Amino acid sequence: MRKNIIAGNWKMNKSIDEGKTLASSVVNMVSSKLPGDAEVIIIPPFVHLTPVKDQIESALNISLGAQNCSNHDSGAYTGEVSANMLRNVGVKYVIVGHSERREFFNEDNAIMAEKTTKALAAGLIPIFCCGESLEVRKAGEHEKFVSNQIEEGLFHLSLDEMSKVVIAYEPIWAIGTGETASTKQVQEMHRSIRLMLMDQYGDAAAEETSILYGGSVKPENAEELFSQSDVDGGLVGGASLKAQDFVDIANSFK
Ligand code: 13P
Repeated sequence: MRKNIIAGNWKMNKSIDEGKTLASSVVNMVSSKLPGDAEVIIIPPFVHLTPVKDQIESALNISLGAQNCSNHDSGAYTGEVSANMLRNVGVKYVIVGHSERREFFNEDNAIMAEKTTKALAAGLIPIFCCGESLEVRKAGEHEKFVSNQIEEGLFHLSLDEMSKVVIAYEPIWAIGTGETASTKQVQEMHRSIRLMLMDQYGDAAAEETSILYGGSVKPENAEELFSQSDVDGGLVGGASLKAQDFVDIANSFK
């Protein structure tokens, strides 16, 4: 059975104290067993990782994630953080290929492929993001675009490596806009991603891969989104900054 996951990407928000308070509120509000046996992942900025880890340590179903890692192991890369460093501070998951990295930091599929490899080599689970712009969606090119991102970012992995990866489909036009993709659009794209995985890695691996949706997930739409057969949870931005909203989303599996 593939895993249900709710991941909260705080992006570049919250002071350390605010982050500690938010993490401890989530811990206090998440019961030991969530519907659908979901795992909660908190993904704060780098400098919050250790203080947040201290807050969530006692919670069995809450893990720590990072928002990015370097595509290099070590050396003269000012401002970068390696996958091994993240592993050292107790990180379990790392986001790779978020559209904001692609857009604002010019990171392309080749860099994402390297980051995915580095993350896996360090023992981290990559949450590999993909998703199209509004322009691409309007041109009806979204499936081709996303399939290219996945092919170039992930298909260099062995079957064993791929079996550890989580995928997040985040259409750029739905991120932070309040406009969620329709349930039908989400299910169609998730199905198409799973079919790609089947072709490349076989049915068993594809069935085991968790595919999350991201883009204006809220307590009001989470239940319907997560009820789709190929939607295994969410990568949540804005709503993860409010403990109650985030925990309501985490309780939205059937
Ligand atoms: P929002 O939930 O704010 O739309 O952000 C989604 C996202 O980018 C999560 O990584």
